[in-house]
Amino acid sequence: MIKRKIIFDCDPGHDDIFAILFALAHPERFEILGFTTVAGNQTLEKVSNNLANVLDYLHISLPIYKGYDKAITKPLEVQPQAHGESGMDGPVFIEKNHHFQMKHAIEFYKEMLEVHDKITIVAIGPLTNIALMIKTYPHLCHKIECISCMGGGIAEGNIQKRSEFNIYHDPEAAKIVFESGVPIVLSPLEVCIKGSITFKEMEAFHHNHSVSKLVYDLFSFYSKYSKEHNFSSSPIFDVCPIYYLYKPELFKGFNANVYIELNGNYTQGMTITEKCEKSQTRVLYDVDRKTFIDDFTESIFELDRKVII
Ligand code: RIB
Ligand code: CA
Repeated sequence: MIKRKIIFDCDPGHDDIFAILFALAHPERFEILGFTTVAGNQTLEKVSNNLANVLDYLHISLPIYKGYDKAITKPLEVQPQAHGESGMDGPVFIEKNHHFQMKHAIEFYKEMLEVHDKITIVAIGPLTNIALMIKTYPHLCHKIECISCMGGGIAEGNIQKRSEFNIYHDPEAAKIVFESGVPIVLSPLEVCIKGSITFKEMEAFHHNHSVSKLVYDLFSFYSKYSKEHNFSSSPIFDVCPIYYLYKPELFKGFNANVYIELNGNYTQGMTITEKCEKSQTRVLYDVDRKTFIDDFTESIFELDRKVII
């Protein structure tokens, strides 16, 4: 099995961390070149600090490159109701001054695309960084093997009736990315909801092993939103794009052109999918939930065994 070179573009975000932990548990499959952060769930500073706190807690020294602190045209609109004032409420970290790379996120992409034959981008926040990297360095985009992206909805919405947060936050960026011709695998709300973890399954992490404790503390806050809305489970949205790269055979999808609504009082950020076999974009709509959750759970236990805090 080929080991993929990946970059996470993220806005941690509870589920962003779940996705990153999954990849860290599988070094035999994923070489993480680094992380780029983007404003979304919270401000750029807060999401960058959240990621740095987790990497520091795990004693992992991988580089973090800050990207854009707002969408291309829209004003910043963070999401405290889903992720809290910090952007990752729940766990408590010893606050410290973290070391972030001086280089801007898109310069990191340029460097990595020049050095490596192929890289995969795991896009789990608004697409601002990736869109502006594509616009700035179009001659390097052929070296992007795939963008595995959480975003959009076939018919669902979570920030508006028909709009999903990552796309809604920066629809202009999403339009640039989906029109770029770069191969994309899209995990929209539908497949993420199909892959939800039940509150009972979350209890598997309720013990004192270090990584499980972090995950349980994250779920303790993150699952509140689902509980308040009388659901029996929570989607772990951002884990879908990385899990697809791990076991694509467990997903169902279709090739489609994806159009982004830029305006509209009720539909800004809506993704319109039009089936097209020739399209470079694959839209996922179903996953083998049990295997997905079992693999996610076992991956956290694997990190418990490996990571000495
Ligand atoms: O709509 C879900 C997406 O918005 C996820 O990436 C989550 O982290 C939030 O950013
Ligand atoms: Ca995210």
